[in-house]
Amino acid sequence: MSSKAVITGCGAYLPETILTNTDLAKKVDTSDEWIRERTGIRQRHIAGEDEKTSDLAVEAAKAALKAAGRSPDDIDMIIVATTTPDLTFPSTAAIVQAKLGAAAGAAFDIQAVCTGFIYALSTAEKFLAAGQHKRALVIGAETFSRILDWTDRTTCVLFGDGAGAFVLEAKDEADADGRGYINSYLRCDGRLVDLLYVDGGVSSTQTAGHVRMQGNKVFREAVTRISQAMEWVAADAGIDVRSIDWFVPHQANERIIKGVVKKLDLAENQVINTIGGQGNTSAASIPLAYCQGVADGRIKPGDLVLLEGMGGGLTWGAALLRA
Ligand code: UT7
Repeated sequence: MSSKAVITGCGAYLPETILTNTDLAKKVDTSDEWIRERTGIRQRHIAGEDEKTSDLAVEAAKAALKAAGRSPDDIDMIIVATTTPDLTFPSTAAIVQAKLGAAAGAAFDIQAVCTGFIYALSTAEKFLAAGQHKRALVIGAETFSRILDWTDRTTCVLFGDGAGAFVLEAKDEADADGRGYINSYLRCDGRLVDLLYVDGGVSSTQTAGHVRMQGNKVFREAVTRISQAMEWVAADAGIDVRSIDWFVPHQANERIIKGVVKKLDLAENQVINTIGGQGNTSAASIPLAYCQGVADGRIKPGDLVLLEGMGGGLTWGAALLRA
């Protein structure tokens, strides 16, 4: 019998400190009005000085485990999607495993920037479907504030910190009640590296570097590529994209989300939108938004949910599942 990867719990964590647009306008030449109008962002959360990406990930993971009724011992795979690891090595996933007190199975990071969670979810599902692992923690976690150039108004107003996690469990098709991961679409076009990157790294500068982005060029690529990924997963599953219950987008820019909604003829009230309060939390934004939808009762078991992401690389992708 084939097995399905079912989300049995999700969890979210946002650091306590909030940085508003008005706070930012005191540091760089910007305004609350510009940021809201161009992006939809009102505020973002910023990790405390002693808070590392693994700490955010652990809080989200604990919440996801609680929601799933599982303990760290039940987990045999941890994947962390992050661009802001605690250390160059070992992986943040290894550190998370230790902090959770889990010791079984595999742990590794995935780097696909803002598409990281879609890549991680899709990867975890393959191991579960193959029967090689039984229960995975799939986490998107970022301290993106650490790689921002706080003098560059074109990037520093966009991002925030946070973490979101899924417990993904392999279930026999019959026990899954129609729930679970359906399919995904992952893409990268490395020719577009220069549109969004960090100007540092281990083997080049031996520094972490800062985010550099040609925002309007990324913007121009976004709606087409995201829509194409979403249409692909829907068509592959034999459904009309408009028949989904919930659209959980990567939260980069409200105008991109609205552009996709318009292009695919979706309804605004099908969107789980968290950008106003969180900004762009890179790999964390999709699970954070999904958890918000579950927590406030919008996403219910059995609902058809479409996730999408796009980021540096350029990478982009989508995943379809039944909650
Ligand atoms: O998650 C990873 C993927 N990332 C994305 O998807 C981001 C995609 N890009 C975007 O979301 C948008 O391009 C931005 C929000 C980054 C920028 O919005 P835009 O409407 O594309 O603005 P722009 O870059 O074309 O800049 C318009 C003007 C410029 O001034 P001039 O040249 O017209 O005088 C900028 O210098 O806005 C200026 N500007 C700002 N003004 C006030 C840029 N940033 C700011 C700022 N405050 N923070």
